Amino acid sequence: MSQAPSPVPHHVAIIMDGNGRWAKSHGLPRIEGHRRGVETVRTTTFAARDLGVRMLTLYAFSIENWKRPPDEVGALMGLLEYYLKQELTTFVRDRVRLRTIGRTDELPAGVQQVLRTTMEETKHFADYTLVLALNYGSRSEVVDAARAYAAAVAAGQEKLNDGSWATFSRYLYTADMPEPDLVIRTSGETRISNFLLLQAAYAEFVFTPVLWPDFTKADLAAAIAEFNKRERRFGLTSEQLAKPAAVAK
Ligand code: IPE
Ligand code: IPE
Ligand code: MG
Repeated sequence: MSQAPSPVPHHVAIIMDGNGRWAKSHGLPRIEGHRRGVETVRTTTFAARDLGVRMLTLYAFSIENWKRPPDEVGALMGLLEYYLKQELTTFVRDRVRLRTIGRTDELPAGVQQVLRTTMEETKHFADYTLVLALNYGSRSEVVDAARAYAAAVAAGQEKLNDGSWATFSRYLYTADMPEPDLVIRTSGETRISNFLLLQAAYAEFVFTPVLWPDFTKADLAAAIAEFNKRERRFGLTSEQLAKPAAVAK
């Protein structure tokens, strides 16, 4: 009897790390690592779709990354704009929906413009979504959500005594997105760095030593294979998972 295929995580989120170390190990300036990192963004976007993933979130620039040297920040913003301009026709042709999470209104005007155009032109694609986390940080996201929630309460649109996660989470940047099933971090670091702290509450984590510019489809497939070995219990026991009917709602 043939075995059922292993489930593919619906939403994969990646902390793309190690561009600087990749450049250093090749005797190149850090920006060259970022340039190679952009190539990996391209290949991984399509690799994930080939493997059956429906949503891919990439941590591209954190709020804390503004503290890097100004020439590196400038180069990263330039690369981002260049990448988005290059990819627009590919996203439309290959039906990739683009969206973002983060305080994108603080990005350079040129980046905001190309983001708006690309999101508008791809908003009807429903099969595969690329989410770029740009000027993103979980703590700022919570602050922004709390502020928006408070405003909604003040306007009489929400009741303060409805203290449910389902209600509050509608004010996060990720309001209409499924939670990540699998979070991958490259470069051997084993920390979260302010990424999707609330949304990844029950995600599986895979940490790989591969530096982001070297990350391949095979590495992604290996992370998914690792994900498939895990048992996601969501607070239950293994025995309960085997007999879902016995679980109290
Ligand atoms: C990830 O690579 C890219 C960004 C954070 C923008 P890094 O630039 O953090 O690379 P390392 O960690 O210095 O090697
Ligand atoms: C996390 O990488 C942010 C992104 C991948 C965009 P960092 O390199 O900025 O994280 P830390 O500083 O090592 O925690
Ligand atoms: Mg880093």
